Amino acid sequence: MNQGRPEAAARPVVPEELADRAHAIVAAYPEPKGALHPLLDLVLSETGSWDGTWAGWVAQLTGTPVVTVHGIARSRRLPEADGEEIAVCTGLSCRWMGAEAVCQRLQEVPNIRVVAVNCLGACSAAPAMARNGRLHDGLTPERLDALVAGDR
Ligand code: FES
Repeated sequence: MNQGRPEAAARPVVPEELADRAHAIVAAYPEPKGALHPLLDLVLSETGSWDGTWAGWVAQLTGTPVVTVHGIARSRRLPEADGEEIAVCTGLSCRWMGAEAVCQRLQEVPNIRVVAVNCLGACSAAPAMARNGRLHDGLTPERLDALVAGDR
C-alpha cells in the first residue's frame, strides 16, 4: 500500500505555455504544495477538464500524493463562466491573522466567489489568498481593497 508517496500516473500532453505558467505558479510559493489550489484552478480554467493524468501532473509538480490531489479536485467545482474565484486561506495562521475579515470583505464584492482553502504555504505572512494563480500574503484591509480595485 502506498503510504502518502506520490503515485505514478500517465502524464498529460501539456502545452508549453501551460507548463511555463504552472512552473511560475509553483515558484511563487515557499513550498510547492502551496501551489496546489492555484494549479487546480489553472488546469480547470485552461482545459475545462480533469482526470487522473492531470492529477498526476499536479501531484508531481507539488510533491503531493495523487490521491490527495484527486480528493481536493473532487471537492472543487469547475469555474463558472462569469465571476472570479478567489481562494482565501482559512488555515490556523491565517485565521489568527484575520482570514475571516478577508472573507467578509471579498464576499461584499460582486462577481467574486470566495473559496476557503487550508493553507497556501505562506503561513509566516498570513493572512493569504490566491487570485488568478498568484499568491497575495500579508493582507491588510488597505492592501485587500487595492487588490479588489485591481491595483497590485
Ligand atoms: S495557514 Fe494560511 S497560508 Fe498557511
